[in-house]
This record gives sequence, structure tokens and C-alpha cells, in this order.
Amino acid sequence: MEELYIQGGRPLRGTLAVQGSKNAVLPILAATAAIPGRVVLSNCPPIRDVAVTRGLLEGLGLSTETRGDLLRVEGCREPGCAPDPELAARLRSSVLLLGALLARRGEAEIPLPGGCLLGARPLDLHLSALEALGVRVRCENNRLLCRGRPKGGTVRLRYPSVGATENLLLAALGAEGPVCVLGAAREPEIRDLADFLSACGARIQGAGSPCLRIVPAPLHGAAHRILPDRMEAATWLCAAAATGGSITLTELCPAHLAPVLELLGRAGCSLRLTERRVSLRAPARLEAPGPVITGPYPAFPTDAQAPMMAALLRARGCTLFRETVFEARYRHVPGLRALGAEIRLSDGLARVRGVPSLRGAELRATDLRGAAAMVIAALSAQGESHIREAWHLDRGYGSLVPRLQSLGARAEAI
Ligand code: EPZ
Repeated sequence: MEELYIQGGRPLRGTLAVQGSKNAVLPILAATAAIPGRVVLSNCPPIRDVAVTRGLLEGLGLSTETRGDLLRVEGCREPGCAPDPELAARLRSSVLLLGALLARRGEAEIPLPGGCLLGARPLDLHLSALEALGVRVRCENNRLLCRGRPKGGTVRLRYPSVGATENLLLAALGAEGPVCVLGAAREPEIRDLADFLSACGARIQGAGSPCLRIVPAPLHGAAHRILPDRMEAATWLCAAAATGGSITLTELCPAHLAPVLELLGRAGCSLRLTERRVSLRAPARLEAPGPVITGPYPAFPTDAQAPMMAALLRARGCTLFRETVFEARYRHVPGLRALGAEIRLSDGLARVRGVPSLRGAELRATDLRGAAAMVIAALSAQGESHIREAWHLDRGYGSLVPRLQSLGARAEAI
């Protein structure tokens, strides 16, 4: 969708099943370039980044087919080593083909990736770790030219980068000996990738901990159900909290959302949790819950920072946000101010002073989660908002408008 119209001021009410995780399915799809045989994924989200990744895989010689939430990938005997630059430039996770192709072919020519503009988003952690395993890396004409199967050994990440951890996991599948990764990221999506790879025959220890060990083993196809999307869940919970609504989310893992649930509880929402469900009932007006400080898992997730900020724009009191993961992740703030929010930015901090009400405005989306924040704020504003460049939302939220409408929102896309 290019443009989204929202008539705000109505509480969200109803029940919604959470979709499969964008940040779990994308590395798993990249991994299929290393897997000979057939892979069948269920609970795949109907999002644009999956469609783009399917195009990348097909350009390498694999074949893909979807039916509902099922996605089947047929490996090929010898995948190409150079993904399509135009497609690769549309998302950050295209860089994960580097690890998969090194494992499969011992070479890769990867275009520099794209993705949300949240700061510099360098690749030094990915590349220095691969070089430490003996891979020869050159950058030429905006492409990474990598040669050589990774050797066994131990690498340490100075920061628990999700993507670098995933790239190392994939490259280690074809290494000449066991690979240990110290300082690995611990996100649930990494554990889901490791669970998938283990189903394909990989021997992985420590997934979800800071210390991973991968022993190369013969790989084969497998079936896997994609983990529920904790960020989509956080977005819906923040939207219900922002509008004084009450919703029940099903098919999710509440434990993966603990910091988000804890803050929403402190903001005055009543929460009921079971193993796979969360029910939230919000007051007409939230209370400022205390500081929101993002960090690597299990800290408060950076991808929920913008949605949570949008939810707290009308809260009583002030909320301090500190974004520690990305250096430029406040691009949604001008749009929130256009709706009447009072937000001061200084030294990487955002100070939100709650206002009694917001009013509809003309907005332009800047990135995936920033766009989600604008949707949430527009839902809680009085009057109509118009969001341009709404295609950002299609990247990570499947069937967004019908799902909003099912919760009573007045939203139309063009
Ligand atoms: C993944 O991005 C997610 N994307 C992001 O979600 C998420 O915000 C991020 O992890 C952090 O949780 C996918 O999984 C597809 P990082 P990634 O490497 O892997 C710096 C969304 O909205 N860094 O953990 O790119 C980097 O600049 C997206 O769904 C280096 O300095 O994140 C950032 O400041 C947005 N050098 C920090 O580390 C490197 O080589 C975290 O980046 C790599 C990263």
C-alpha cells in the first residue's frame, strides 16, 4: 500500500492470532541456500520481505512455492553465488546469504544490503569474524567478494549483533572444523534459526546463549514452523494500550515479550497471560511507566521502542527513552510531533511529556517500526490521519488493514 487513512479516537477491541516472525523467517530462508533438498516452512507471514527473499533465492537457482502460510523451498545442486543486487538492496537480511553461500560453495558475491535507515548499519562485525575464520573478503563496486571455506576456530563478537551471529551460524555449517562464537546475540529468532538448522542435521550447541558451538555435519531438507512475531505482538499491544482498548493475542510466546509486558503493566494496563496468549485491558489514559531503555535481548527490544513511544504520547507524566542499539532510531519523532506529541530529543535521549489529546495529521512513514508508531499514534488521535509511503508497513506487517479493521479501527489503504 502507498497511503493509509486512519480515523482515530476509537478503542481497539477483539482477538488476533500473531503471525510468524519476520526476523525469524528471513534468516531461515537465507539458510535454505545452504541446504540441499526440500524445506517446508509453516506459519510464514504474508509480508513483502518474504516475497523479496523468495526472489533472491529463485535468482540463485532454488525454487519456491507458497500455499497459505506454507512456503516450500526446493534446494538446487549448485546455487549461484551472486544474488540480484536490486533485490538485495531492499532488505538488510540479504547479507545473510553470505554465510549460507560460503557454507555451500566456499564463495559469495553479495551486494551491500539495504533495510531500514536506522544509522550507519556497518558490516564490520560480520566481515571481521569471517576473516578470523580464514575467509578472504574484498569490497568492490558495492559488492562483498568472499572466497574460501571458513576454517574451524573461535571468534568473539565485540557486540552481540543479531545479523553477525546469524551469518556466522550459517557460514559455520560448511566450515572445515568446529566453530565457536563468543559474545553471540541471544534473540529468540536466533534460537529459531538454530532449531531449524538442527532439524536439517546441523550440530549446534548454546543457541540463545552468548556462546555458540557449531560442528559441521551433512545437511538435508526439513519442515519447520516459524516462531511467532514478538514485534508484531508488541505493536498490537501498544496499539490497544494507546486507544484504551482491550485485545487478546493468541499464538505467541509471552516470555519473549517480557520487558514490553512489564512496561505496559506499569503504565496501568491489566494483563492476563497463558502459555500462548496475552489479554490486555487498557485504562482510558495510561500512566508514564518509567524509563524505556533498549538493548540486546533480553533487554527491552529496540524494534518496540517506536511503538511504545507512540503508546505513551498521551500518558500522564513524562517518559524517558534511551535508544542504545541504533544511533538514529528516532526518525518517527517529527511525525509524532505533527500529531501534537511533546517530545524533546537530546544526546540520544527522547523525553516524552504526555498530552491530554492528539489530533489527526498528514504523515510520511520513514521506516518499518517508525511507520507502526505513526499508525498507533493516529489510532489514538482525534480525527483523520493520512500516512504516505505506507509501503514500509508491508515489509513487516501482513494484512495490516484487514487486521486493524477486525479490531474496530477505521482504516483504509490506497
Ligand atoms: C536485526 O538487525 C533485526 N533485523 C532488526 O530488526 C533489529 O532491530 C536488530 O537485529 C536488533 O535487534 C532482522 O533480523 C532482519 P544488529 P541487524 O546487527 O542484524 C551495529 C526490524 O524492524 N552493527 O544486531 O542488522 C548496528 O549498526 C529490524 O524488524 C555494527 O556496528 O542488527 C546496530 O547499531 C530493524 N557492525 C547494532 O550493531 C556490524 O557488523 C545492532 O545491529 C553489525 C551491526
